[in-house]
Amino acid sequence: MAKPAPARSSPKHRSTAAQKAKSKPAPKAKPLTARNCDRHVLYQRSVQAPETDARFYSRWFTKYTGRPLRLLREDFCGTAVLATHFVKLHPENRAIGVDLHWPTLAWGRIHNVRPLLNQEQQSRLTLLQKNVLDVRRPLADAILALNFSYSVFKQRRQLAAYIKNCFRSLKPGGILFLDAWGGPDVLQHKTDKTRHKGFTYEWEQRRFDPISHDIECAIHFSFPDGSRLRDAFVYEWRLWTLAELRELFVEAGFVDVHVLWEGTDRASGGGNGVFRRKEVGDMDEAWISIVVGKKPG
Ligand SMILES: C[S@@+](CC[C@H](N)C(=O)[O-])C[C@H]1O[C@@H](n2cnc3c(N)ncnc32)[C@H](O)[C@@H]1O
Repeated sequence: MAKPAPARSSPKHRSTAAQKAKSKPAPKAKPLTARNCDRHVLYQRSVQAPETDARFYSRWFTKYTGRPLRLLREDFCGTAVLATHFVKLHPENRAIGVDLHWPTLAWGRIHNVRPLLNQEQQSRLTLLQKNVLDVRRPLADAILALNFSYSVFKQRRQLAAYIKNCFRSLKPGGILFLDAWGGPDVLQHKTDKTRHKGFTYEWEQRRFDPISHDIECAIHFSFPDGSRLRDAFVYEWRLWTLAELRELFVEAGFVDVHVLWEGTDRASGGGNGVFRRKEVGDMDEAWISIVVGKKPG
């Protein structure tokens, strides 16, 4: 989900032309308002780029491991839109989406899985209403935990248990990907607004405690008629640092733990959507990166 990161863009925050075309309202659709909108639709349009992400992680996995990514587990999958697109990518792709919240999974089944996948493709996607800490089988080629969702684990021992569980859930040679965010901009009390067709996406950084690193953020949507859907999504997280994440990966047993850092677009100064392995990051105002670890074998 969720950081708009005006200064940075990552695969998940960019929409492909195809998605943009699909997400255009029908010509005679009523103007969006806080009353008639669907928060999941607006979230997907504002924050996610599932086709791009599915391709990015598949390609990266193949380049790194020399074999295709065929069994993907998407933790904290929400509406499972990424898992859905991963299944569409190849006739041998299988995906498991895990989320605690059944109404969100049910929304994803109705609005993403059924419209986008035929019966055969649907048989290759499993959605589990479970805690990510409790799922271990089948062993996956790769696990994705995106849009910083693991940040719900605020205690070190909780996040350590999650990363260890991912390690146990991977095949030998399997890969865990977690995305991360940071930079001085993230610590500011502010609301960033991004205009989309028919609505404005608002990302509020509401509270940050420098002692515990607890951070509270919220997504609101506002509309041309002046209405506003406040607190469409609220996140109470801990802001984890890349140093902590890397240490936890190593403690769990992962090897070749490293960071994919997003390059900078010269013209805008923002992210350019190109993620490369880097040992030393840049002093960017806001950044998004991906922590990668490999299970030996
Ligand atoms: C920020 S959303 C992420 C949605 C999606 N992955 C994305 O990239 O936009 C976080 C999701 O994590 C789920 N969640 C939170 N804690 C969980 C847990 N312990 N186990 C499984 N799902 C959890 C919530 O229900 C919610 O749907």
